[in-house]
Amino acid sequence: MTSATSLLFFAIHFACIRAGNSSETFVKLECKTEYHGVYGQQSIVECIVKPVVEDVTIITVTWKRVGAAAANLLEYHKDKMDPTPGFEFAEPSWNKKNMNVSLLLTNTKMADNGEYECEVETDVGTAKATPNLSVTAKYKTPTMSSIPDTNIQENTDVTIFCNSTGGHQKGLIWWFDQSGNNWTRSAELVAKETDDGLFSLASKFTVLKATSSYTNYTCKVLNVNGALEGKASFEIQFVSRDLGRKADDLDSVSTPKWLAPVVVIGSLIVGLLTALLIFRRRSAQRARRQSTLPLMSGHQTDTRHDEDVEAKGLNSDSS
Ligand SMILES: *[C@@H]1O[C@H](CO)[C@@H](O)[C@H](O)[C@H]1NC(C)=O
Ligand SMILES: *[C@@H]1O[C@H](CO)[C@@H](O)[C@H](O)[C@H]1NC(C)=O
Ligand SMILES: *[C@@H]1O[C@H](CO)[C@@H](O)[C@H](O)[C@H]1NC(C)=O
Ligand SMILES: *[C@@H]1O[C@H](CO)[C@@H](O)[C@H](O)[C@H]1NC(C)=O
Ligand SMILES: *[C@@H]1O[C@H](CO)[C@@H](O)[C@H](O)[C@H]1NC(C)=O
Ligand SMILES: *[C@@H]1O[C@H](CO)[C@@H](O)[C@H](O)[C@H]1NC(C)=O
Repeated sequence: MTSATSLLFFAIHFACIRAGNSSETFVKLECKTEYHGVYGQQSIVECIVKPVVEDVTIITVTWKRVGAAAANLLEYHKDKMDPTPGFEFAEPSWNKKNMNVSLLLTNTKMADNGEYECEVETDVGTAKATPNLSVTAKYKTPTMSSIPDTNIQENTDVTIFCNSTGGHQKGLIWWFDQSGNNWTRSAELVAKETDDGLFSLASKFTVLKATSSYTNYTCKVLNVNGALEGKASFEIQFVSRDLGRKADDLDSVSTPKWLAPVVVIGSLIVGLLTALLIFRRRSAQRARRQSTLPLMSGHQTDTRHDEDVEAKGLNSDSS
């Protein structure tokens, strides 16, 4: 480089920094004005260095929060990396030839919401940008419970709860029965701010004189803008209905169709075996009785015949 071009570089560089306009240097830093992050998840603030010339090497990258007195979130300077836990280059093995200097927030907090500043110094000039990160948090699928919880009799008052956590601002909970009637006016909502600027909602709705023809109630969680963020349904556990359903379940689940014939055939076999056993005992007794009467020799053959039958019967049993 001649001293004239060096001077030119410097002049342009200086002019641009003063004007707050980096688009006239040999590098540009392109970021969107706003990025969106979700609480508890990873967020990325994407900035890409766009050099006008080829083969550019990055000397310094600094990421910081605008207005925050704290130290830089992420700094790279001449092969040295100085990160803050939770902030890193989005590119897994970033190096000075990689023009993608995007910032990754590994676990986004509500406090990460705001304006960021990325400044890049390369061997052909510097560039700066101030993208915003807008962090939101969504309510989780609500959990429902009731008091009393099970074996509820007809015409008892049942209080149903619908709770949800993790919202970004104070939300709403709407209540509906199985016919779509809106019961929200009869419900009571309590919103509490929890750690990290999040909200938890607990809504209580009492069904007066609940009947088993209306068992299913649905609650919907809406954010501050009225957008649905979660929904759940709950069935009041009435005593009779519950027992009836359990019996049905037993019939259809625990007793498969093939079991009935098996039981019938099984009892038949057991019956036959018992009959055979009795028959065997009787004939054995008869044989003993007959052997004590040697004079009645005509019956001896009958006895032997009985024993043959018996042996055959036993053989067929074991097969
Ligand atoms: C920055 O440069 C661009 C393109 O050259 C120009 O359109 C814009 O007006 C400039 N902005 C300022 C603040 O000088
Ligand atoms: C920059 O890197 C991040 C992380 O690897 C990636 O998600 C993003 O698409 C990259 N941007 C560009 C323009 O390549
Ligand atoms: C970025 O955030 C700053 C400070 O919160 C705000 O003044 C500015 O309007 C925001 N810019 C955009 C594009 O949302
Ligand atoms: C919902 O919140 C209420 C009041 O804080 C509590 O009594 C109830 O047990 C909670 N229910 C569930 C399912 O978390
Ligand atoms: C349900 O009732 C609440 C309170 O009256 C109302 O704000 C909401 O708009 C109603 N929702 C629907 C879907 O009708
Ligand atoms: C209750 O009703 C809702 C909507 O009508 C339905 O999606 C849900 O499956 C029902 N829940 C139960 C437990 O019956």
